[in-house]
Amino acid sequence: MDISTTYMGLALESPVIVGSSGLTNAVHKLKEIQDAGAGAVVLKSIFEEEIAYEYNDLIKETYQKTGYNLEQFDYLDFELKGKKLHAYLELINQAKAGVRMPVIASVNCVYSHEWVSFASQIAKSGADALELNMFFAPTDLEQESNDLEKVYFQIVEKLLETITIPVSLKISYYFSNLGRMIQQLSETGVSGLVLFNRFFSPDIDTDKFEVKPSFVFSSPSDIAISLRWMAIMSQRVNCDLAASTGVHDAQGVIKHILAGAQAVQMVSTLYKNKIPYLKTVNRDIQNWMEIHGFNTLADFRGKLSQSKADNPAIYDRLQFMKYYS
Ligand SMILES: Cc1cc2nc3c(=O)[nH]c(=O)nc-3n(C[C@H](O)[C@H](O)[C@H](O)COP(=O)(O)O)c2cc1C
Repeated sequence: MDISTTYMGLALESPVIVGSSGLTNAVHKLKEIQDAGAGAVVLKSIFEEEIAYEYNDLIKETYQKTGYNLEQFDYLDFELKGKKLHAYLELINQAKAGVRMPVIASVNCVYSHEWVSFASQIAKSGADALELNMFFAPTDLEQESNDLEKVYFQIVEKLLETITIPVSLKISYYFSNLGRMIQQLSETGVSGLVLFNRFFSPDIDTDKFEVKPSFVFSSPSDIAISLRWMAIMSQRVNCDLAASTGVHDAQGVIKHILAGAQAVQMVSTLYKNKIPYLKTVNRDIQNWMEIHGFNTLADFRGKLSQSKADNPAIYDRLQFMKYYS
């Protein structure tokens, strides 16, 4: 059974990508991931705050020392050795030298454009693609939703002017018209969209009267939201879609491919079951394909997307009317 796929123009030996996390922040871990049969890897993100901090510091320092405004230069070419940005570029370099599978760099972007020039350094370091983890919290009560949404497009436009490697956006589902937003983002020239990101969430400790972090890891039932939207959008977009959140086993991968995914990211399950579990996932996908008479992923991709399913309305249904009556 052939489980190879393409994603953002990259050739993957398996549809399973190990998502951005602490599992992907060192070359020895990437080697283990590759040996276990992953199709690709998304490196641990570098965060905009880290980039902006270094950048602002550097500008100030250089201006004080020399009177030059660093924005006129390719400032990242110098002075940053030993710092976070340099370390990230080094990780990409080493990853490319150390593994065959595609290596996707990741920037976690919280608002500004300041880090965009850093993206060209990421491209020069040999990353096969860049995943942009984008989420601008809708907590500014003065801001119109349209204005907030525009920021996504402005950043993508600027980024695509800057780099030529494939770019994907890892987005949330917090948009008032999610389907339209996904479709419009897919038409910006990006090569992929990742549905969806999972966020750190606060919880409340009722004994200590403290705010504390809630669960870090997803559970298999968390697959529901991305699965619904994968099925609704997969035939209506102009780029590849990858699934993320709640995919814990081969069944989850198969469901997403039936819904139309080009590839599927996994994180939580690999923290719990460890990296060699990827072998089980790949083998279980192949076994399922054999039982159902599929030779390639293309044979069943999108078979149960909304536009191909026998009862497409089920993906639109939100209320439990039938079950209550
Ligand atoms: C410990 C941990 C660290 C993560 N770090 C990042 C990160 O740096 N950048 C990012 O885009 N996503 C990060 N994520 C989110 C994952 O990439 C993924 O989107 C999320 O965990 C949902 O997938 P899952 O259900 O397979 O865990 C992290 C997740 C976990 C659990």
